[in-house]
Amino acid sequence: MPGTAGAIAANDPRIREAATTLPVYGQLPFVPESAAGCDIITSDGRRILDLYGGHAVAALGYGHPRLTTAISEQSAKLLFQSNAVALEVRAQAAEKLVGIAPDALKRVFFVNSGAEANENALRMACIVTNRKKILAITQGFHGRTAAAGAVTWNSQKWYGFPSAPFDVEFIPRDDCDAATAMIGKDVAAVIVEPIQGVAGAYDLSHEFLTTLRKCTHNNGALFIADEVQSGIGRSGQYFAVQSHGISPDILTTAKALGGGVPCGAVLCTDDIAAHFGSGDLGTTFGGGPLAAAAIVAVIESIEADNLLQNVRQREAQIRKQCVKGPVQSIQGKGLLLGLVCDRPAGEVRDALLERDILTGTSGDPNTLRILAPLVLESHHVDQLADALHSIAPSIA
Ligand SMILES: Cc1ncc(COP(=O)(O)O)c(C=O)c1O
Repeated sequence: MPGTAGAIAANDPRIREAATTLPVYGQLPFVPESAAGCDIITSDGRRILDLYGGHAVAALGYGHPRLTTAISEQSAKLLFQSNAVALEVRAQAAEKLVGIAPDALKRVFFVNSGAEANENALRMACIVTNRKKILAITQGFHGRTAAAGAVTWNSQKWYGFPSAPFDVEFIPRDDCDAATAMIGKDVAAVIVEPIQGVAGAYDLSHEFLTTLRKCTHNNGALFIADEVQSGIGRSGQYFAVQSHGISPDILTTAKALGGGVPCGAVLCTDDIAAHFGSGDLGTTFGGGPLAAAAIVAVIESIEADNLLQNVRQREAQIRKQCVKGPVQSIQGKGLLLGLVCDRPAGEVRDALLERDILTGTSGDPNTLRILAPLVLESHHVDQLADALHSIAPSIA
């Protein structure tokens, strides 16, 4: 790994975390101390261009004045109240979110994370349809909780629970015939990431996604779009389903939603919302005022700073300039991109990190992920292209 040369001091957070937290994360060999714009500044004074955004969270980069002001003002004014009371800032966050979602999604349930959003979406689908089979897509990722993990491909490695809460089957991705055969009147819902993030920013085909929509509709099953990673502008649209003209029954989102403040949301139609009453769903922290203020600031910034257009321009620039060195092709959309490499992506990530650029690996061994802040600038892409150019293509 780059940057590991030289002894690490005993009081370094890497040593202290290793001694006090569960050893479940492989950590990168640097310690961020602060960040500004798209750069991380490390404890040993390096400036690293962050094209990974903390797993697609830092939508506005770091230190964006609208977000930091909103958070600090809200924390001084009213740090927390639960859903036992209505709040102006929560109402605003819900209105903003409904305003950018596909038209039919008119209701929001706020939660704290992507997995919690999916957990509730799946519960809602079972309740609304009174069915107990969920279909998911091969290679998909939906989170680590009991229901979300049950619909995640290959989760048996870490799932841990004695059984799943419902029957699960996986549709081979992009296989329209299999989808048509598998979606029957016993299916409560199909859950799908329109762009499979953890799988390496693999964008499912328009034909496959529209087949899922048609078959779910015809069989009384719900279409759940998991836009935890692809949502909130990352695909160049507010939500990736919008570029397919698809209106899901339920949509989940999280990650970039609060720009770094933990939060998530489940959006659904009025018809689905009508099945739920007091006490049917719940969470203490979901929709808290700090998260709500962050959600408002993120959505307003995307609008005010024209970030959807910026995402599309940076995508075009990356596609034009970055198929070089180890990169053979690019998949995905917007700033959820998979750079398919001629060698293990971990090697390319390490080589880029030696050149002060942070990217991420994915579930696909040769695919490197770009999950850059939506505020990425043209010169950052030039920097990436130059760095890739300096890494020799493999001779194999
Ligand atoms: C598509 C998708 N769904 C759900 C999740 C789970 O989100 P969280 O880690 O916030 O629980 C993730 C996380 O990577 C994700 O990419």
